[in-house]
Amino acid sequence: MKQTTQITDPASMALEDIDVSDPRLYAEDTWRPYFARLREEDPVHYQAESAFGPFWSITRFQDIVEIDSNFQDFSSEPTIVIGDLGDDLPVTQFISMDPPKHDLQRRAVQGVVAPKNLAEMEIVIRERVIEILDHLPVGETFNWVDAVSINLTTQMLAILFDFPFEERTKLTYWSDLAAGSPEIAGGDIDPQERLEGLQDCLATFTRIWHERKDDGVESMDLIRMLQRDPNTANMVDNPMEFLGNLVLLIVGGNDTTRNSATAGVLALNENPGEYDKLRANHALIPSMVSEIIRWQTPLMHMRRTATRDVEFKGKQIRKGDKVVMWYISGNRDETAIDNADQFIIDRAKPRHHMSFGFGVHRCMGNRLAEMQLRILWEEIMTRFSKVEVVGDVQRVQSNFVRGYTDLPVRLHLL
Ligand code: HEM
Repeated sequence: MKQTTQITDPASMALEDIDVSDPRLYAEDTWRPYFARLREEDPVHYQAESAFGPFWSITRFQDIVEIDSNFQDFSSEPTIVIGDLGDDLPVTQFISMDPPKHDLQRRAVQGVVAPKNLAEMEIVIRERVIEILDHLPVGETFNWVDAVSINLTTQMLAILFDFPFEERTKLTYWSDLAAGSPEIAGGDIDPQERLEGLQDCLATFTRIWHERKDDGVESMDLIRMLQRDPNTANMVDNPMEFLGNLVLLIVGGNDTTRNSATAGVLALNENPGEYDKLRANHALIPSMVSEIIRWQTPLMHMRRTATRDVEFKGKQIRKGDKVVMWYISGNRDETAIDNADQFIIDRAKPRHHMSFGFGVHRCMGNRLAEMQLRILWEEIMTRFSKVEVVGDVQRVQSNFVRGYTDLPVRLHLL
């Protein structure tokens, strides 16, 4: 894939050469000074040339809130990632729809994360977390990403879909395929493998749909919820919409929480003073969880498409232009968040961040994600004095999902 950014000194580059869509900036974790310059010198930045075509970058906190709250001028259709979808799998999903259709489809599934359901899930999640942590090899080096982060979020997904437990790793595989395409976000997944994998995902869930239809089981799994709501009861007859929404729920619940579960270990190791604070006071776990989600920004951007010519902060955005809101930059905006580059687990307003977006598309699973991470840390802290990072972290190549493939760690018991 052609990339336009030379990874050189961001302070001396011409502004027009700063292409923050380059996925290498995230694989190599070198993105900070590029966004700092854009926020300072050109917060609504036009990128005329990139591997994903021309696009606007919105990099300041308040500007992102404004765009995200204005679906009339900045539409989520046809897609919310920087790259355009290929024609081989023209899926539709409610994250890529505007009201009123968006609202109907979101309403059909949001009961899965209603407080009553979350309270029930808390018990199951805690059991799963305990089971995972109690089987980790103490005193040996292992990859936290596989053993804990992926393992835990895969089990969560299986619960949400009531998916056959022994086949649950398929969910993670489909999630990786869906989010890792080169055209969409600069990843390195083979397009043919992606196509075949997602077709298998559709076929599997279509079979599950028909098996469950009218079986009379009272369950809050996502498939039966879609079946029960009149607005989505026939979704299976529109395969691209069915697949799109499945992928949305799989990726939404998977990559994001998985990478936050790794980020916490990394952040605490890089900031030993914060780890000490946590050891001294476990009541900081909820605010630490919000800080991990801000610090990590698991989804780095959302894209909108202008529905008309709009003047925004003195720039002329044309109808049809791509407008990319860089949450990863908004979360480091010093004018909105004090000491934004630092990881501080006892912030006065820990939920003041943009990792869950704003407006009609604000993350549906935010409380579920926070709960999973809270339980994980509550259980870690009653077992281990330290989860020590003992090797190099490896990051995912993508400008959308900010993630990890490897984090070698060693556990120390209390
Ligand atoms: C730390 C974890 C998570 C992060 C950082 C995250 C982030 C986001 C973001 C940025 C959006 C788009 C917001 C916007 O456009 O304004 C979103 C939407 C969404 N998320 Fe999450 N998410 C997380 C966990 C979850 C989980 C566990 C679920 C599972 C239920 C989930 C389901 C969704 C869905 C269904 C949407 C689409 C909402 C809509 O279009 O109305 N997310 N998420």
